[in-house]
Amino acid sequence: MRKPLIAGNWKMNTKLEEAERLVRDMLAELDSIGNVEKVLCPPFISLAAINKLIKGTSIELGAQNMYSEDKGAYTGEISPLMLIDLCDFVILGHSERRQYFAEIDEMINKKIGKALESGLKPILCVGESLEDNEAGRTEEKITSQVNAGLAGISPTSQLVIAYEPIWAIGTGKAATGKQANATISLIRSMLANTWNQETAKAVRILYGGSVTGSNIAEFIVEPDIDGALVGGASLKTDDFISIVRQTANLKAAR
Ligand code: 13P
Repeated sequence: MRKPLIAGNWKMNTKLEEAERLVRDMLAELDSIGNVEKVLCPPFISLAAINKLIKGTSIELGAQNMYSEDKGAYTGEISPLMLIDLCDFVILGHSERRQYFAEIDEMINKKIGKALESGLKPILCVGESLEDNEAGRTEEKITSQVNAGLAGISPTSQLVIAYEPIWAIGTGKAATGKQANATISLIRSMLANTWNQETAKAVRILYGGSVTGSNIAEFIVEPDIDGALVGGASLKTDDFISIVRQTANLKAAR
């Protein structure tokens, strides 16, 4: 069935030396944990150095964004061709990119297509705002983000989706396991309807938003939640290792 996945989104944190130190500190222990895919997503400028550090281990790398063209006059952008030798995954459509950098569904959709075409596994992020959540519009928002993000994309189990309610990101106020599972089940049934049952069963869907070593178990025991996209806690060695270890143990026990 689906292999659990824990990805650490470091966001705009760590200088090169700090990034290397963080990886060195967690490398051996993370590497020793089996039955869960472990993905680190450091800032772009650390990818090449970390790629060298993780060679020969079971740890994988992801980028936090990319542009939807291979090359050209796009000042400041990073292309899938630059990433493919360094990473396996790429986070796309994170709510911080939607909110602060005006990324809209159409752009994210283009990036998803381009990532897949380039051999990168996209982690498509979706999530509703507090206002939408309180107004009972969660289902509507998630449906529209998933539909728009995947428009015209052929069914593929290479896709990963992360459900990250915006009100839970960096707030210390995580969703409950049951809430997250309900929305993630909805996403899975959407995939079954628009793609097919087989692919819907194979796509990993993660929860993200204030995940720590203290609450990961609540999410991991839920049947439709395949792992987590971790922000703040992925910068803390002990917390991140604990999240990965609990995920491996709890999913193996099921
Ligand atoms: P936090 O875990 O810091 O809430 O961030 C979640 C997130 O946005 C991961 O992409």
